[in-house]
Amino acid sequence: MRYLAFLDQVHAKLRPETYLEIGVRNGTSLALSRARTVAIDPAYSITDEISCDLRLFRTSSDEYFNRADPLAPTGGRPFDLAFIDGLHLFEFALRDFIHTERHSSAKTLIIFDDVLPRNRDQAARVRHTISWTGDVYSLIAVLARYRPELTVIPVNTIPTGLLLVLGLDPQNRTLADHYHEILAEHRQPDPQPVPEELMDRLSVLPSQRVLDAGFWDILADADSEASPAQVRRDLQTQLASLGDAFGRDGGGEEAA
Ligand SMILES: C[S@@+](CC[C@H](N)C(=O)[O-])C[C@H]1O[C@@H](n2cnc3c(N)ncnc32)[C@H](O)[C@@H]1O
Repeated sequence: MRYLAFLDQVHAKLRPETYLEIGVRNGTSLALSRARTVAIDPAYSITDEISCDLRLFRTSSDEYFNRADPLAPTGGRPFDLAFIDGLHLFEFALRDFIHTERHSSAKTLIIFDDVLPRNRDQAARVRHTISWTGDVYSLIAVLARYRPELTVIPVNTIPTGLLLVLGLDPQNRTLADHYHEILAEHRQPDPQPVPEELMDRLSVLPSQRVLDAGFWDILADADSEASPAQVRRDLQTQLASLGDAFGRDGGGEEAA
């Protein structure tokens, strides 16, 4: 399944009231939104028809989140759904996640694009391929190490995979507090040491299986005031159907 077809079904299942998109380009993924939307890209050139209540910002995601009130366009409502598809360098994607989670609720779903390179050339920090993932894939190891209480689901979409992150906590500061340590440990020079099982997509879930899972209604119906612990508890039984790795106790503490 192509990533846009998957995202289209995510919008249909979650019916988000608010949506954040980082990295817009021509507006192809943005065109899927029917929500109150904040979209950010320093160099967008939209050619697709847009059908949502849109506030579009021609700036970088870092600059946007440095503003006094990034939720002003939504009237203070946290984002229900976010698609992070901006600059494909590890530290940018990490900051995008930190900033987005801070403006989320426990029911928010964050989706990263381009987390499953097919080879080390695609994953290079210095781009030299047409299809480029950069080293965003490193986030999978970072989230497992520093935020084991999150549910992180790599999805086998075409061309370069998606990563779903659920069970968020806008109060959590673990990644921000360890930012420099994380970069020192996980930002690697090219050629990128991409794990073989990631390139072979051995531990990645088929897109239809993820779409058929039972957790979508829990996210869609959860109150945005619900606590992370409560949403994680509700998610657990449904996540178990995806396999052992996803059905673990989500109430654990952070590792660091
Ligand atoms: C892969 S394209 C986005 C494609 C779009 N999401 C889609 O699927 O139709 C990546 C976009 O990220 C934008 N970008 C680059 N650096 C960025 C930054 N620091 N903040 C936000 N967007 C950025 C680029 O200008 C480019 O348009």
